[in-house]
Amino acid sequence: MTKKPLILGIETSCDETAASIITENNQGKPIVLSNIVLSQIDVHKEFGGVVPELAARSHMENIDLIVEKAINKSGKKINEIDAVASTAGPGLIVCLSVGLSFGKAFSTSINKPFIAVNHLEGHALSPKLSFDLDYPYLLLLISGGHSQFLNVQGMGKYKRLGTTIDDALGEAFDKTAKLLGIEFPGGPQIEVLAQKGNPHRYNLPKPIFNKGGCNLSFAGLKTAILKIAKSIKSEQEKFDLAASFQRTIEEILYKKTKIAFSEFEKHNNLKEKKFVVAGGVAANNKIRSVLINLCKEKNYQSIFPPLEFCGDNAAMIAMVGLERYKLKKFNNLNHPAIPRWPLDEAAAFLKGSGVKLK
Ligand code: KG4
Ligand code: ZN
Repeated sequence: MTKKPLILGIETSCDETAASIITENNQGKPIVLSNIVLSQIDVHKEFGGVVPELAARSHMENIDLIVEKAINKSGKKINEIDAVASTAGPGLIVCLSVGLSFGKAFSTSINKPFIAVNHLEGHALSPKLSFDLDYPYLLLLISGGHSQFLNVQGMGKYKRLGTTIDDALGEAFDKTAKLLGIEFPGGPQIEVLAQKGNPHRYNLPKPIFNKGGCNLSFAGLKTAILKIAKSIKSEQEKFDLAASFQRTIEEILYKKTKIAFSEFEKHNNLKEKKFVVAGGVAANNKIRSVLINLCKEKNYQSIFPPLEFCGDNAAMIAMVGLERYKLKKFNNLNHPAIPRWPLDEAAAFLKGSGVKLK
């Protein structure tokens, strides 16, 4: 029997230090042997957001321990690893450099190939860690750093259908939470507070709701929240604002996803249509149920990867590494860290490019 590839994945693009070992079974289905994530929430809490230099320092202090843990938990030996895959971008350059340098050094020390991975490609392939999922599928990636619709057509074939032209959705949740006086990272608390409020009390803007295809925008929303938050006097008003924000986001995602479905269908003639939602914001239960209902309405299969593979993790980086190993597509050790690295190069220059939205 031929040996199945054993891949070490490393992720340090923002504020999670992560390592994972994966392999595959005889049917080519990935098996996650370990998936270790060290969150830096405690490091950044007092600053109300991620401080890049502190994040990089924390990655440096922990990366060897996290990789060691991942290897030990997998039950495999270092010399059984066939390739090392590290996130090379997009992300904070000082953070990316830690995982990238560590991965390069590790691959050299075991004399095995090195693979530089685009973090967004990791998110795009993350559902494959849990589901038998054939291409193509539509992906909505909503996290603290990214918000985009991607037509995932195959390994290495990604067409961006829409993206945020300003803030990421998780960032909008976090900033709203901060304005409501909730401690970092407050994003997940919004839906908890929202349950106690009236979602129709405040009428918030929905930027580019009626234009721009399935592109997204959240910056105007934050400005409106800032104004209202200043005049809030009671706890109830705070709950009402959280609920109104949550409702507004649901309405934006419902409408923009519907447009993304039509865009996706223009590119693919399919009997079975699949919609995957990944990234930290996919944990939001109300957003989930709105999108699940839309899928039922439009005859799409809805797929939500487990949360451990939705937020930043190294199993998804190893997943890309596994696919690239099988294609023998490796990288040189001089591969740079790339802070801005869109998956779909053709769509790269929307933001800040002066391109008008239709
Ligand atoms: O994917 P992720 O773990 O890390 C990044 O790549 O950013 O996403 C983190 C983001 C944060 O902005 C956090 O506020 C948001 O996901 N988030 C949520 C919820 N849980 C996490 N946003 C809204 N509702 C939630 N329940
Ligand atoms: Zn991410």
